[in-house]
Amino acid sequence: MILPIYTYGQSVLRKVAEPIDKDYPGLDELIKNMYETMTHADGVGLAAPQVGLPIRLLVIDLAPFKEDNPELAAFKITMINPEILEESEEEIAMDEGCLSIPGINETVVRPEYIKVKYLDEDFNEHIEEFDGFRARVVQHEYGHLEGELFTDLVKPLRRQLIKGKLNNIVKKKIDTKYKIK
Ligand code: NI
Repeated sequence: MILPIYTYGQSVLRKVAEPIDKDYPGLDELIKNMYETMTHADGVGLAAPQVGLPIRLLVIDLAPFKEDNPELAAFKITMINPEILEESEEEIAMDEGCLSIPGINETVVRPEYIKVKYLDEDFNEHIEEFDGFRARVVQHEYGHLEGELFTDLVKPLRRQLIKGKLNNIVKKKIDTKYKIK
């Protein structure tokens, strides 16, 4: 089932999300719906707050990159209660966008490498290291669980310039091919 995506201005996007356990009701169905919602919206990452739920769950699927980068395309991952254990001092700049902030793409500087502890959909624990584009997507989605949006991290001057666009999103004066809330 495709869920509506909560957009900039919705308070759920600003909450620090809560950890969940195996008993969270309808978790398998929710994860399935999140993948479906993300794919339908042409996204490569989606965090639970973006579908209105302040819980520590995110999904990533880089399959849309299969033509340009077959290696990236194999990256499909569900993370429950992720925790960033380490991050590099070295930072890199990359362009980011977000399904909750349609029509805005901006350069964001973040650590190049991270080490993450998380539970998969079967609640098995993993500790993994990510760099490059994978590290970038994980950090962006992880930010959603902390109530952070990528626009918080753009340089102040740029932030000033996108203020009007952000206000339009708050007022829902935007056009998206997917359902928003
Ligand atoms: Ni996002």
